[in-house]
Amino acid sequence: MGSSPAAVASLPRLTAVATLLVLLVGQQQQQQASGLSTYRQLRAVVDRLNERHGPFLAMVMAYSVEADALQTSGEFVANAAVPFVDMFGRRFHVGTIRRVSVVTVMSGQRRLNAGITVQILMDYFDLGGIVHYGTAGSADDSLSFGAVSVPKYVAFTGSWNWKRFNSIGVDDFPELSVGYYNTPKRGENLLGRIEFKPEEFFPVGGSLEEVFWLEPFSAWYQLAQKLEDVVLDYCVNSTYCLPSRPKVVLGLRGATADIFLGNAAYRRFLHNEFNVSTVDEESAAIVM
Ligand SMILES: *[C@@H]1O[C@H](CO)[C@@H](O)[C@H](O)[C@H]1NC(C)=O
Ligand SMILES: *[C@@H]1O[C@H](CO)[C@@H](O)[C@H](O)[C@H]1NC(C)=O
Repeated sequence: MGSSPAAVASLPRLTAVATLLVLLVGQQQQQQASGLSTYRQLRAVVDRLNERHGPFLAMVMAYSVEADALQTSGEFVANAAVPFVDMFGRRFHVGTIRRVSVVTVMSGQRRLNAGITVQILMDYFDLGGIVHYGTAGSADDSLSFGAVSVPKYVAFTGSWNWKRFNSIGVDDFPELSVGYYNTPKRGENLLGRIEFKPEEFFPVGGSLEEVFWLEPFSAWYQLAQKLEDVVLDYCVNSTYCLPSRPKVVLGLRGATADIFLGNAAYRRFLHNEFNVSTVDEESAAIVM
């Protein structure tokens, strides 16, 4: 998957209401009735879609609020004949956004779901690229609520070498000393130290590499620079507004882990050690 074009963007949470979808009753029942032969039939359906409408731009969202935001935006126009295909428990919506062929899907949260979903997309659909958007936490005080970040790098920060208590040695990657955060006073702690580890990355046509900073597809990153001038909304209605208009920011670093991060001290650590500005649970999996 390494050479797949992928642009990763993090958008603020959008309020959304429930979506209306057309149901392909026949296909659904078939899928439940028989396993493998149905997937062959589904593949034939997807192959026809690829021939007629491909290549597609895939949009991957992690959870319902993010998926609903797209559906209720009015931008997505479902394909009249095949509005969606259900495969491997996920629903792939087929249609267009401003005449560009798109397939949109809710992957489910965290890396495993995101990775599986991207693999299914790549196995079945003829893709021109993948756009991932969704909510992210901020680890950067210079970002205001509602800001849109188009990161230049994403790291997976959930892979650790948890060191033996009192172990000594030089670390290649930043480490977190748990005792440093003792209250009311810094000190030692049996949980010791955690050293961050790079990811194992399989580049297409190359051999296994250890990579810490993953990079979205650079041509798309260049393209995304045009978003910098987009004027963002900052009011839900006439009385419910952010204190100021948020901005689109490019070139920051993001961190992904299978962790919902609500802890300010750890957020500060990530920012200080890795210069990370946003934290989420899927981006790194999508880039990989
Ligand atoms: C504006 O939106 C907020 C948040 O959704 C809601 O609580 C409030 O009632 C709305 N106000 C008006 C005037 O619609
Ligand atoms: C951290 O990121 C900001 C924004 O991209 C950049 O200006 C700054 O030089 C970076 N600092 C370090 C230590 O990498």
